Amino acid sequence: MQATAIAQPNIALIKYWGKRDLGRNLPAVGSISITLSALHTTIAVDLDAGLRNDVLLISGVADVERLTRISACLDSVIGEQRPAARITSECNFPIAAGLASSASAFAAATVAAAAAAGLSLPTIELARLAGLASGSAARSLYGGFTELSNAGDVIDLTVLRDEQSWPLQVVVAITETAAKATGSTAAMEISRQTSPFYESWIETQEEDLAKARAAIRERDFAALAGVAEHNCLKMHSLMWASRPPMMYWNSATLHCLQTVRKLQDEGRQVFFTIDAGPQVKAVCVADDAAAVRDALAATPGVRKIMSTDLGPAARLVDGSDR
Ligand code: DP6
Repeated sequence: MQATAIAQPNIALIKYWGKRDLGRNLPAVGSISITLSALHTTIAVDLDAGLRNDVLLISGVADVERLTRISACLDSVIGEQRPAARITSECNFPIAAGLASSASAFAAATVAAAAAAGLSLPTIELARLAGLASGSAARSLYGGFTELSNAGDVIDLTVLRDEQSWPLQVVVAITETAAKATGSTAAMEISRQTSPFYESWIETQEEDLAKARAAIRERDFAALAGVAEHNCLKMHSLMWASRPPMMYWNSATLHCLQTVRKLQDEGRQVFFTIDAGPQVKAVCVADDAAAVRDALAATPGVRKIMSTDLGPAARLVDGSDR
């Protein structure tokens, strides 16, 4: 009745922003992500703790604010008649700051909850359950390069390439560790309702997905860089033009983009992407990773650097007790 799972966050190269069904949390657009290896969230679910209500501890501290969503995730995996759970979470990077902590948390919670309840579900079912809790979490049930489709009545995922067959590196420049003011769930709904660019965002996504799929298939770094940067800036333009505007960047975010441009001008194979937060993720080839890391570390306003390979799928931790 207890199990522990670990999951890595994923970052989207072609972004999910907007929902077409709020109740079933179905995305309005398809997305393509890479799962990271060095960042991780470990979640233990104990259904045997003899509690009357669920308790969530994040790094040893009770968190009431985040409990509702994690309890709802456990309800959808195990059923609402389940015993109350003690859920403990440990994360080695800042949470709710645009580093996809909800993706790794809900992926790990789903895997741990299913195992704690003695359920043996196929990965696609676990991904659908994680996606119900947070759309991007579905992608962390897979490693490498993963596409989340927006077609059909249930979400579907495809692994485009595993993490070993194109070993890109990601350098994460952390420019702020505080939690963001508006979470993705609320912000993407504001964009859908108010941004004048929302329709063209939806209409042009398939073109970006097709370019990214082809670039990943052919391991064409320049093509992937072009479409990923374009898609990222298009999503942020959509956010900036929403009412109220969603402006997640700070001055260091922009300095990091300038650093990436300079590295590109020097011939380095690197591109940037930014999610709903001020952190910059620089995706690069292994040979250029040290130069990218040094340049971003020396960029004004960067507080911390994390470098990582591409990572594997969410999984149970060895010795996890069912
Ligand atoms: C900018 O998956 O956090 O990171 O489904 O409402 O939980 P919910 O949204 P979430 O949104 C992620 C948005 C993004 C882009 C992406 O990861 O594709």
